[in-house]
Amino acid sequence: MGTSNLIDGRAIAEQIHAETAQRIEKLKQRGIQPGLAFVRVGEDPASKVYVGMKERTSTRLGIRSLTRVLDEKTSEADLLTLIRELNVDPAIHGILVQAPLPSHIQASRVYSTVSPEKDVDGFHPVNVGKLMLGDSSGFAPCTPAGVQQLLIRSGVNTEGVEVVILGRGDIVGKPMAAILCQKGKHANSTVTICHSRTRNIAEHCRRADILIAAMGVAEFVKADMVKHGATVIDVGVNRVNDPAAKGGSKLVGDVDFAAIQPIAGKITPNPGGVGPMTIAMLMQNTVLAAEQLTEKAV
Ligand code: GUN
Repeated sequence: MGTSNLIDGRAIAEQIHAETAQRIEKLKQRGIQPGLAFVRVGEDPASKVYVGMKERTSTRLGIRSLTRVLDEKTSEADLLTLIRELNVDPAIHGILVQAPLPSHIQASRVYSTVSPEKDVDGFHPVNVGKLMLGDSSGFAPCTPAGVQQLLIRSGVNTEGVEVVILGRGDIVGKPMAAILCQKGKHANSTVTICHSRTRNIAEHCRRADILIAAMGVAEFVKADMVKHGATVIDVGVNRVNDPAAKGGSKLVGDVDFAAIQPIAGKITPNPGGVGPMTIAMLMQNTVLAAEQLTEKAV
């Protein structure tokens, strides 16, 4: 099948960036530049890379970005104080606190403190609730929203199909299920969430027309777990030892790509599939936040 069944996340992300850039231009004509604040606590190497990529994309599109790096030992109270300052800063329309946070900080308190109107991650309980209710006035979390866009823009039908999601995390698995089981266009799927306590995971997977792997286990999905012609979306990013690689390790997804590409109807490469879409949706959410916050001010 060659490479024809690949879902090109980089190309689709660029389409979305082009749409976002047009909206930024419209804001600019009104004298508004969208502003996005990144908050990073500690020196987690992966978080540094992710925030760096998001900053660079912001700048490329004309979004003003501001990054606050706090010490690993920063108290929760100090982090909350910073978030409250950003909540009332009129130049900032979006706030992203990069996960994971150090264990002495309660993430749920942090995400509840971000103003729901600036919550471009979609982690605030108000936005989580709106997503469940199908209320589109909230912000959807970037990674699952990006996966839905990949499906839409590569012509994968979700209507009435069996979707199996591996992983029940708050950032991907749960919101992904909420998005695709919604009554409405580009949703209407029959959704199953599998997790570490699920019996016979392989059997569930084999039923899937769309299989979304987001549980964070390196190359968990093997060829005998995928139905011929299924769409396979790999959200995983796992660092594994590889003596042959530079630095002694490499990144792999949750899907055994080499074995599954020949079976899949469509499949995301990893990297180059879901990752760029997370950033594209973050930029889109930031522009939406700027539009909504500045409309109110008029
Ligand atoms: N860590 C992994 N994914 C994400 C994300 O989408 N947003 C934030 N803030 N942290 C993350």
